[in-house]
Amino acid sequence: MTFEEARAQFPVLERYAYLQAGSVGPLGRPTIEAMWAEEATSLAEGRGSYARFMKLLDAREQLRSDIAALVGVSADRVALTASTTDGCNIVLAGLDLRDGDEVITTTDEHFGLLGPLHTSRAKVVVVEPDPERIVEAVTPSTRLLALSHVLWTTGAVLPVHELRATTGLPILVDGAQSVGTMSVDAGGLDYYTVSGQKWLCGPEGTGALVVAEPDELRIARPSYLSQQSYEHDGVFVPKEGAARFDPNLIPGPNTVGLQTAIRTTPSWAFERAGELAERFRTRLGEAGQDVIVPESRATLVAWRVTADESADVVARLAESGVIVRDLPGRGLVRASVGWWNDENDLERLVAAL
Ligand SMILES: Cc1ncc(COP(=O)(O)O)c(C=O)c1O
Repeated sequence: MTFEEARAQFPVLERYAYLQAGSVGPLGRPTIEAMWAEEATSLAEGRGSYARFMKLLDAREQLRSDIAALVGVSADRVALTASTTDGCNIVLAGLDLRDGDEVITTTDEHFGLLGPLHTSRAKVVVVEPDPERIVEAVTPSTRLLALSHVLWTTGAVLPVHELRATTGLPILVDGAQSVGTMSVDAGGLDYYTVSGQKWLCGPEGTGALVVAEPDELRIARPSYLSQQSYEHDGVFVPKEGAARFDPNLIPGPNTVGLQTAIRTTPSWAFERAGELAERFRTRLGEAGQDVIVPESRATLVAWRVTADESADVVARLAESGVIVRDLPGRGLVRASVGWWNDENDLERLVAAL
């Protein structure tokens, strides 16, 4: 597939310089068509047949395998969730942390991770997203590291495998800003979350959670999908592997939609996205913007503005058809550079600034 063919899948790009995949990615025509076909079948044939249920279960297993391949683990380590937040909640609820336990996180995490952390009984220790600071914060009471692979604020990549190895502590990695835009190896990490609606360009309400040792995490939030058999009193035998953590039946259209989005991603996607993000950083810097350039970085490109003007910058850009977001209270504006973007999107951004 050529770049032009791949880009043409996204009608939104005909109108806007769409740079917001860090929140929600652009939707492709094949994705929406697969979802519509699924809806049309439900409309014509009803939703309650055994055959439809079996087809949906089969689609789920295909999606599980596709996501597993994407992050380098086997399918039996993947739970299908509705979001990254869902995955964080499953892990934190299952770990049964207690008063006196500590979890280490960073100043640059999203509420999708922070909210679940604060529902655990552990003390949440917050440090700068610097590997040295993180390691220094470890005490005999530390039970978990919980942080992003790619920071949603600056696009910095944290060395999650190295942190796992250095500290020997279990790690919950928020993969919301990594999966779908860079090569990810979730192997060797205890818990890794995926958002389907962002860089993977899937429908909202989709995601995944990788669990390295499913037998060792308590099932705190069972769903019908968690069990392979159960008694009348509710005692149940969990499914093998991470499927026991599946929190809900993702709607059929969303299931096939995410699968289509993943399968229509070109093989060159990550390489192109990484190169283009570098080009954005350089060009924005040349244009006088105070661009943040972390040592190790992904495809979110952020630049500094005065804190109280960030919303105005975003609104002004939107008037010119350039879609970005600000990080409220941090004095940052952020462009999410995807493999589908091009030089023209960059020039529209620079001109509108
Ligand atoms: C780093 C990070 N974590 C979590 C989330 C929440 O993702 P989800 O909506 O999939 O729960 C976001 C969304 O913006 C994010 O940027």
